[in-house]
Amino acid sequence: MLYISLFLAAFAALAVGQEEEFVPAPGVFPVKGDNTIIGGIFASGHDEMMSLYPTFPVPTPGPEAPAPGSGVLTQGSGPYPAKMYTDPTLPNHTVYAPINCPRNVKMPFLSWANGDCAMDGATYRYFLTEVASWGYVIAADGIPGGINGTLSFVHHSRESVDWAMSGGASKYGKIDRNKIAATGHSCGGLEALSMAYHDERVKQILMFDIGIFSDTRRYLLQEIKVPIAWFMGGLLDLGYVLAEKDYPLTRPGVPAFKANLDAGHYGTFQATNGGKYAKAAVAYLQWQFRHDHASKEICTNPSYPNSLVSQNWEVVFKNYNGV
Ligand SMILES: *[C@@H]1O[C@H](CO)[C@@H](O)[C@H](O)[C@H]1NC(C)=O
Ligand SMILES: *[C@@H]1O[C@H](CO)[C@@H](O)[C@H](O)[C@H]1NC(C)=O
Repeated sequence: MLYISLFLAAFAALAVGQEEEFVPAPGVFPVKGDNTIIGGIFASGHDEMMSLYPTFPVPTPGPEAPAPGSGVLTQGSGPYPAKMYTDPTLPNHTVYAPINCPRNVKMPFLSWANGDCAMDGATYRYFLTEVASWGYVIAADGIPGGINGTLSFVHHSRESVDWAMSGGASKYGKIDRNKIAATGHSCGGLEALSMAYHDERVKQILMFDIGIFSDTRRYLLQEIKVPIAWFMGGLLDLGYVLAEKDYPLTRPGVPAFKANLDAGHYGTFQATNGGKYAKAAVAYLQWQFRHDHASKEICTNPSYPNSLVSQNWEVVFKNYNGV
């Protein structure tokens, strides 16, 4: 119940100082993905949500979900032990980075937006620390513990990218500014998609447990020109039907990847090292950003050892020709 009320309250919120809400209409493409509502142009406002979901689906954990409270915080299982930082040069965010990444390792950078578009930058720490330990720097919206009464908007993810592009993340190691991904869970996934819209600095989009709520907004996907990946929680995930509708509507020729695990809407984020969701995300990122052959096989070849399919993921993809 708490989740549902948070979610609807979140979509009802208005950003101070922003202009009118974006109204989708065929052929209308705003310049940027910002909106007065959280999640940006790909999300729905309160009235639209109420018409789509008079009773909002209750998130039910699936058989792949971790037991509540079973997760333990580590420094990740990757080659570069990582941790969570707050950084005065990026206020209102939380950074995840390797503690000591060798200077010869160029690191991709990820913006991360939380579920509910909440401002607690520590909620996904098991998952984000794990990803960072493979040689990634990540800036999540919000500070550990949250910022009372505030929610994240598209500009929060953009601030992360601005910070990385202007050298702010360089104290954590060598950042590869050509390898920027927009990522997020649930409402945060829509925030990531909206931030990536018309921002050519963003080269990859990873959405977790979410798709576009309203059929009237799906045409906006035509303006997404970089690879997009959905990591979904299967039939029990309230985002399942949405991503199923989105996947066929990506721009022709644009690579798209969709993987489903029966974990439900909360995935395995709260498992030690982020569980199977982190393994899948790392494999996808290592394939796309580092052209790692084994990672590509894990993602795309069901008979490869430890393939996503062998770990119970259902995988489809298109347009990764020669990548
Ligand atoms: C951080 O968030 C608070 C609360 O929303 C806001 O008042 C403040 O201006 C933000 N700081 C920066 C540097 O954006
Ligand atoms: C958070 O905000 C609520 C109302 O917006 C208030 O009642 C509560 O005391 C605040 N908590 C903190 C820790 O500031």
